[in-house]
Amino acid sequence: MTQVSRRSLLASGLAAGPLLSLPLTPVAAQAPGNTADQAALAPAAIAPREELLLDFGWRFAFGHAGDPSKDFGFGMGQGDFAKTGDFKIAKSGFDDTGWRTLDLPHDWAVELPFVNDEVLGDSSSRSHGFKPLGRRFPETSVGWYRRTFDIPESDKGRRIWIEFDGALRDAIVWVNGCFVGRHDDGYSSFRFDLSEVLKYGGANHIVVRVDASFGDGWFYEGAGIYRHVWLTKMDPVHLGKWDSVVRTTVADGAATLDLATIVENDGEHPANVTVDWTILDPAGRTVARATSAPISVNPGGSAECGTSARVTAPQMWSVETPSLYTAIVKVAGDGAVRDGERVSFGIRTLRYDVDKGFFLNGVPTKIQGTCNHHDHAGVGAALPDALQRFRLAVLQGMGCNAVRTSHNQPTPEWVASCDRMGVMMMCETRQMSSSEEGLRQLELMVKRYRNSPSIIMWSIGNEEWQLQTGELAPQGARIARSMVELCHRLDPTRVVSAAVNGDNEQGVSDPLDIIGFNYNVPEKPEAFRKKHPTRPVFGSETSSAIATRGEYAKDPARNAVSSYDGVVPWGQTPEQWWKFYGSREWATGGFAWTGFDYRGEPTPYGWPSVNSQFGIVDMCGFPKDYYYYYKAWWKKAPSLHLFPHWNWAGREGEEIPVWVYSNLDEVELSVNGRSLGWQKVPALGHVEWKVRYQPGVIEARGRRSGKIVLTERRETTGPARSIRLSVDRRTIDADGQDLAMLTVEMLDARGRPIPTANHKIAFNITGPGKIIGVGNGDPNSHESDKDPRRSLFNGLAQVIVQSDRHAGRIVVEAVAEGASFAPLVPATISIVTRSPAMVRPTA
Ligand code: GAL
Repeated sequence: MTQVSRRSLLASGLAAGPLLSLPLTPVAAQAPGNTADQAALAPAAIAPREELLLDFGWRFAFGHAGDPSKDFGFGMGQGDFAKTGDFKIAKSGFDDTGWRTLDLPHDWAVELPFVNDEVLGDSSSRSHGFKPLGRRFPETSVGWYRRTFDIPESDKGRRIWIEFDGALRDAIVWVNGCFVGRHDDGYSSFRFDLSEVLKYGGANHIVVRVDASFGDGWFYEGAGIYRHVWLTKMDPVHLGKWDSVVRTTVADGAATLDLATIVENDGEHPANVTVDWTILDPAGRTVARATSAPISVNPGGSAECGTSARVTAPQMWSVETPSLYTAIVKVAGDGAVRDGERVSFGIRTLRYDVDKGFFLNGVPTKIQGTCNHHDHAGVGAALPDALQRFRLAVLQGMGCNAVRTSHNQPTPEWVASCDRMGVMMMCETRQMSSSEEGLRQLELMVKRYRNSPSIIMWSIGNEEWQLQTGELAPQGARIARSMVELCHRLDPTRVVSAAVNGDNEQGVSDPLDIIGFNYNVPEKPEAFRKKHPTRPVFGSETSSAIATRGEYAKDPARNAVSSYDGVVPWGQTPEQWWKFYGSREWATGGFAWTGFDYRGEPTPYGWPSVNSQFGIVDMCGFPKDYYYYYKAWWKKAPSLHLFPHWNWAGREGEEIPVWVYSNLDEVELSVNGRSLGWQKVPALGHVEWKVRYQPGVIEARGRRSGKIVLTERRETTGPARSIRLSVDRRTIDADGQDLAMLTVEMLDARGRPIPTANHKIAFNITGPGKIIGVGNGDPNSHESDKDPRRSLFNGLAQVIVQSDRHAGRIVVEAVAEGASFAPLVPATISIVTRSPAMVRPTA
């Protein structure tokens, strides 16, 4: 236990020291509490701390990045930061009635039209998927957010913080006319202490100016306050932010928990404190308790408080059983609980064996991973929490057991979803830099997420070609070493890596615990292993296969890529890379680029393409055929997928390649009842036939051990007759945040979905909900993501419906647009919204 000056800790930027082990306090039994699900959803705050969601009821207006007269006068003269309390936009008299009302999370970039305005030397418009963001688009690159909130008189004396989980980017914050802080990078969370500028017993005004003129990446990032905002109220004696750590060691059927935190004293008197830890198992039963030794914390100071506990027969966190424990951490001081929080953690072991690969809880586990950016159809970068879970479930459906947060620290709910759903994570920081800023970002990431069992390694960056090889390689080694050391200091339980596409023999690779290879298989990992047999390796980024969902020929005139074998020159098809990593024990596994298509970096074509085609699923999460390659070889369950569709009017008599992805022993293909024979399925491969097209039915039958296990058919469908709407969940929470994900299809007279349908459909919604976005996965579509209408793309479209805060019944109707489609039968679907079991308190 150490007594330190808080101010010096903050100045050094490194608040967490080594963990301390103190004697175990006896375990006390307690009655069952909340369930695992509730525990995960419950607010982290324990009374008297309050954590209020500040997402609802903001006003928004565009400013201007170049002209102060169009930026509410910001920058007109020198006065904006000159005198505290003078900033008029953040004061009560400012009239924002002309500003639009919206809720967070919000991404204004996805609302903008597509603009083909590439100029030589500026790829920002292309990187952003042709959304007008950047210095050449000053009128759409700055957004202002304004809100009023009440603070009661009774809050006087508490410390009150505003906490942003993330804003893209360069956010400047004023409250009640006072400048309170600025935050540059788009991915790390930030917070400001408002206690001294608040008005107690009345209305307070906050204004945030967000400027997306510059970017952090080379892909679509979005613009605006795209993650949650919180108002946190605490006693002056409170726990440090992200300082509570549970570190687990498993031996002899029991887990030892090293428990540590930091208590800060922002009050005026010394405080005598102890920290109590209550450990709940996944069912909410108390399984351990521990209390740190008392310590006095001086005003303006802080103290590390550590102890330990033991959990016998722990329920291990794994991909199959993502068991989550909860630590309830409370600071008691001078006769009362002063502050507290709930920390979710898991008990599990990780091991990387140079010859045998990765072990989770002692079980050899291949990393079957995907890299993902953070945007989705309809909503851009502003993902409601339920969408994080939806996306993860899509990836799990093909057996993906790990994600890489390329190339930035993740949204908290993406990590929480991985913890809850059993998906491992390679967690990556944005900047490879040992500058104060680079280390600050890295420190924040490690501190914020080190209790998450899903995270199996940290990544200090991606493809820093200047630092990998050549002139700057020595600097690269030094920078990487500082970053690796910081990770180790904050979290000695995990390995540190980087995604390297150059020379892994020098530069940034030097200090890494495990060597990450981007592409270059088999040559580079093979050669490296021969030379460095003691250094473990894995595929930090692989594949970059490309496919347009539902397209079966490369057609540059239409910016379409073939679903059979599309791949960029530096990449590999799923079959090529997985044959390498999947068949060598030492090779650990890898992360395919990418799980989902993403906006921006349109590849392999430029305009009119507005998003990448690297996804194994499209922007909506609709699977491409490659999905089923992974499903066959990443999952154990029998799997068989037959493609393409069988609607080839006008191509009668032409040869069409017919492929099957399956993990069964052998597959037979028949065409209109005539067998074309059985084929053995090669390990980690596929089978294919060439079939002269005639309308009708193709059917694949798969056998295992001589028995037919699965059959799939593709039929030539008739003309469109009716629309079908389906939904992932029929009952959602009436919390203003939960979602129902609707799929729209067109059926023929026999009720068969038409895989080539492209009808435009309009959506009407009634009841307590709204449509927050639409999409269809077409990389070349310039239709609005926000209008309640969308064309199907190769048979599919998606509608994202969000509840409001009233329980009731939402009804969505889908009607085909255009006179020629008039006879098509519309569809309706209803979704029940119910009062949630647990509501996040709001400000
Ligand atoms: C990689 C890079 C990714 C993406 C990908 C496309 O080199 O790390 O961010 O650009 O290429 O293939």
